[in-house]
Amino acid sequence: MSAAPAGLPPGPPHDEVPFHRPFVVGDEGSAVQGALRNGHTGGNGPYATACERQLSELTGSQKVLLTHSCTGALELAALLAGIGPGDEVIMPSFTFVSTANAFVLRGATPVFVDVRPQDLTIDPAAVEQALSPRTRAIVPVQYGGGCADMDAVMAIAAAANAVVIEDAAQSLFATYRGRAPGAIGQLGALSFHETKNLSCGEGGALLVNDPALVQRAEVLQEKGTNRMRFVRGEVRAYTWVDVGSSFLMSDITAAILGTQLEAGSEITAAHRAIWDAYHEAFAPLEAAGAVVRPAIPPEVRHNGHIYWLLAPDREARDHVIVRLGEHGVRAQFHYVPLHSSPAGLRYGRVAGDLAFTTDAAARLVRLPIWVGMTRADVERVCEVTMAALAERRAAVVPG
Ligand SMILES: Cc1ncc(COP(=O)(O)O)c(C=O)c1O
Repeated sequence: MSAAPAGLPPGPPHDEVPFHRPFVVGDEGSAVQGALRNGHTGGNGPYATACERQLSELTGSQKVLLTHSCTGALELAALLAGIGPGDEVIMPSFTFVSTANAFVLRGATPVFVDVRPQDLTIDPAAVEQALSPRTRAIVPVQYGGGCADMDAVMAIAAAANAVVIEDAAQSLFATYRGRAPGAIGQLGALSFHETKNLSCGEGGALLVNDPALVQRAEVLQEKGTNRMRFVRGEVRAYTWVDVGSSFLMSDITAAILGTQLEAGSEITAAHRAIWDAYHEAFAPLEAAGAVVRPAIPPEVRHNGHIYWLLAPDREARDHVIVRLGEHGVRAQFHYVPLHSSPAGLRYGRVAGDLAFTTDAAARLVRLPIWVGMTRADVERVCEVTMAALAERRAAVVPG
């Protein structure tokens, strides 16, 4: 296996610096051949079972179910939590569409709230203000590989008798007070999409942290059948016992995921090294009031998934992206806030003032971060970004 390099690797700059490049450990091919030789390429195969065990150990979750995507895991969570028409589900507007879609598919109403400025995770005070007699669930999104204020979210949910479903798509290998994001609420969803630190193309997992939900979770995952009980020899035949769908990961995909999980600590360390280098480089700019950097709270150890900056305004942000592009570097903005999207307007409602969400979405730039970026690549990104911001300042304040 070629493990991910620790620290920031020396070496020449890449001509082109993509925004993301999925890391290949090296053993994926032989693992896939192993899955093909096994003759079990469908869901809940030996590689999937091994990954689930590993993820359970890693996160402390009682039961892990591999799914075809985080989107699927969120949909399974919504089904499992019994969300239905008339229910309200509180979530940040600053998130990916799947966070909301999973609940809209059940006939529920997403209630969009603001994020807190320092790490763009859900603002607990906004959650409290959004509660109504219809609130059934709260969905913190663990943005950028960090973690929301889960103590506050869990306390608000307990008082409101609401279930907490964590969208931890980006946060595997992060911790919050030593615990894994995704394993703190009753349910949590992870992603292994190609854009994530650890990936298998398309893939996800549902973390079932409430023991009362475990048995039904494996039924809903297997099309509403008791197939897993049959596999364990607990029943003589399996049949349709509940609603459900196919929320499964092929064992070919799970073979790839297993290889990535083995290298997970090294991949995370490499992401963090790049994140730290950016963070250090932009400190003087923040001190001069030219950008805002993320401020990860001390109780969170992030996994280096996203490095973002807030430029002074939308024009400066767009200018940074264009200038980086001219130098072969692909930077990106992020979510169009869901409350302002066509489907968000149709299916959701807004609670409180989303001023910070709107402002951050307009000013945010994400810089490239992937295993294999060299020190020279990172230096080029920093230099071009700083020069672009200086150009904008000079344009705004002539002279
Ligand atoms: C916050 C969040 N939720 C959900 C998803 C959906 O993940 P997947 O592509 O695995 O369905 C993503 C993926 O980008 C995400 O960032």
